[in-house]
Amino acid sequence: MRKRIHILAMGGTIAGSAGDSAATTGYQAGAMGIEELLAAVPQVRELAEITGEQLAAIDSKDITAAQQLQLAARVRELLLSGEVDGIVITHGTDTLEESAYLLDLLHFADIPVVITGAMRPATALSADGPLNILDAVRVAAADEARDRGVLVVLNNTIHSAQLVTKMSATAVETFQSPNGGAIGAVNDGEVCFYQSAQLHHLPNALSVSEKLTSQKELPYVPILYGHSDDDGRLVKLVRENGAQGIVYAGMGNGSIPERAEKELAAAVQAGIPVIRSSTSVSGMVVKAEESYEQAGFIASGLLNPRKARLLLQAAVVCGKGTADLRNFLR
Ligand code: SIN
Repeated sequence: MRKRIHILAMGGTIAGSAGDSAATTGYQAGAMGIEELLAAVPQVRELAEITGEQLAAIDSKDITAAQQLQLAARVRELLLSGEVDGIVITHGTDTLEESAYLLDLLHFADIPVVITGAMRPATALSADGPLNILDAVRVAAADEARDRGVLVVLNNTIHSAQLVTKMSATAVETFQSPNGGAIGAVNDGEVCFYQSAQLHHLPNALSVSEKLTSQKELPYVPILYGHSDDDGRLVKLVRENGAQGIVYAGMGNGSIPERAEKELAAAVQAGIPVIRSSTSVSGMVVKAEESYEQAGFIASGLLNPRKARLLLQAAVVCGKGTADLRNFLR
């Protein structure tokens, strides 16, 4: 039986349009609708029963928590409907890893959810979007993709939503998983997995997804970027502005300059959970100085600051604290 693949279009460069086919910057992201995108890859209809809808037409740097939650709610609805065998999401690359991680956190089914994007606008010479859409549909329709959480497919490679990050500002091979590498590839139409995908899996993802998708927005959890001579002033500022959690992107193994550490420790004392992540793109953030443990900071493990932020937002909504997060990230 042919697989039923539903495509959700969010905009991005994959739907971008430029006046000149040689232009790969200075275009309008999200300008083209889903029908136009699919018209460039008629082969997808040979692979599966394709349906689709336009959920947004945005440059993904502008995505709001409300739009991320709306996407998560629609994915949840589709997964529960019994009417799809796979979901493909076309999304801008700038925040693709964030939406992918949020969806992965809330993923409760064995049905593949695959996110793709493109680095060159749809109007460009050698646009990468059409092949990325074709590969994403192939992966979403593959039996081997079941029960692997949310997958990111671009440039013929398959990545885990938990590990993938946008490494290059401009290159088409921008999506990489610096810890562990890609988990599979699509070679000339053949889907091949060579590693498993999810590291952390919420045992109660179905109820967490219900709780989160009933929200209209997410709590204010800023990321503070560590640097030399950080005097902790920004920690005070975000607290005054109602931060309900803080992610500190520290140096190396999540190291925090002393004055900022003092302010962050005071935040934890006041009931604001703090995750230590890293400005380094690879390696794990693990237990470091004893004072971090005593202060109650949470080490982010393999999560980069942007993903750690989403996890912390979800934890705040669900009333989970430091101990729960430490257990989850172990
Ligand atoms: C965006 O993220 O929407 C623009 C950039 C891109 O998709 O590559």
